[in-house]
Amino acid sequence: MTASLIDGKAIAASIRQNIASQVQHRTSQGLRAPGLAVILVGSDAASQVYVGNKRKACEQVGFVSKSFDLPADTTEAQLLTQIDQLNADTSIDGILVQLPLPDHIDSATVIERIQPNKDVDGFHPYNVGRLAQRIPVLRPCTPLGIMQLIKSTGIKTHGLHAVVVGASNIVGRPMTLELLLRGCTTTTCHRFTDDLRHHVAQADLLVVAVGKPNFIPGEWIKPGAIVIDVGINRQADGKLVGDVEFEAASQRASHITPVPGGVGPMTIACLLQNTLFACEQYHS
Ligand code: GUN
Repeated sequence: MTASLIDGKAIAASIRQNIASQVQHRTSQGLRAPGLAVILVGSDAASQVYVGNKRKACEQVGFVSKSFDLPADTTEAQLLTQIDQLNADTSIDGILVQLPLPDHIDSATVIERIQPNKDVDGFHPYNVGRLAQRIPVLRPCTPLGIMQLIKSTGIKTHGLHAVVVGASNIVGRPMTLELLLRGCTTTTCHRFTDDLRHHVAQADLLVVAVGKPNFIPGEWIKPGAIVIDVGINRQADGKLVGDVEFEAASQRASHITPVPGGVGPMTIACLLQNTLFACEQYHS
């Protein structure tokens, strides 16, 4: 079997186009454009790239993008004050604090300070709780984007055994909730999981988000599985690779996401979707 590629880049481009038209429609009616504030603390190279891409995407669809690049020695109190100001700013619909934060800042405290209706990352306990109770509003962007990629295959998720490798707040845990909501039987694997190969081999739908290049050998994949690779890892030769051995996995999977051009562009597209949603539902 040779897997069909799930073209996240093309699907994300079509979502962005659609959002741009909706923004144009709003502004042509005299309504304000959605506004997103993106806060970066420190100068982590990967975070700078991600944040730059998010800001650029905002501008491309006609959002107002406000950037806050704060020094690495910013105190937690200073960051919380910045968030309070943005919570009160009526031109801002979404507040994104890029993670990870420097060690002296507690990310849970920071996330909880963002007004839930401006939490376009979907990380606030209120929004995570809504998702867990099957009444989602603002949903974490990467899992939301992955659900749209899975939908694009036309394969029904109900009854599939979905295996998620990785249990972070950003991807793994909300991913498992999303799949559960769509009728999958779910297994979540993490650093303490015994016999990972056994679990991976059970997966009709496999999502891998561990951040380790080629961590899952292709030969582990169940024939016919859908494989979603969240990892974006830069090798010594400069090439970007995922968490799954792509070539070998492609010989067994029915559908697979490439790296780059799979999950990555969808995360940004969903951030834009969430910001437009927050603007229209909560702040218009
Ligand atoms: N760091 C890695 N991914 C993300 C994300 O989706 N949102 C935020 N805020 N930080 C991240």
